[in-house]
Amino acid sequence: MTEEWGGHFRMVIAMLKKRGLELGLQRQDEYVKKLVKGKKKGQSRDGYFLDQLLICAMIEARSCERFKTLWQNLDDEELQEFYYKFMVAEASHYKLFLQLAKTHFPEDEVMERWNYWLDYEASFIGDLEVRGDRLH
Ligand SMILES: [Fe+2]
Repeated sequence: MTEEWGGHFRMVIAMLKKRGLELGLQRQDEYVKKLVKGKKKGQSRDGYFLDQLLICAMIEARSCERFKTLWQNLDDEELQEFYYKFMVAEASHYKLFLQLAKTHFPEDEVMERWNYWLDYEASFIGDLEVRGDRLH
């Protein structure tokens, strides 16, 4: 995934350059911060590992959804193609994290915890500021 990340980062830099834009400063992501706060305190190493995998899966899934929205709604063909590639990549990352969780833990345990994370996310998602400068 690291090589892929480097390739994607180079794609972003090239697209920014082509369009006369610059990479902004990295900022804390409120969505990720909120997710991390949903981890159970004092849980086992296994429980912590499962939560980490599921948080990663959720972040990838949401990124995929945002790229899909861009791909489907932009008129610019070059950007459509650009975001389509990211959408496909994020979908595979989401599946990978979920698959890893199912490799290490029983499926019912994974799904029970996954449902916890969906409920937890739903409890705060409506309160987050809508920003147009963040995709991942
Ligand atoms: Fe990803």
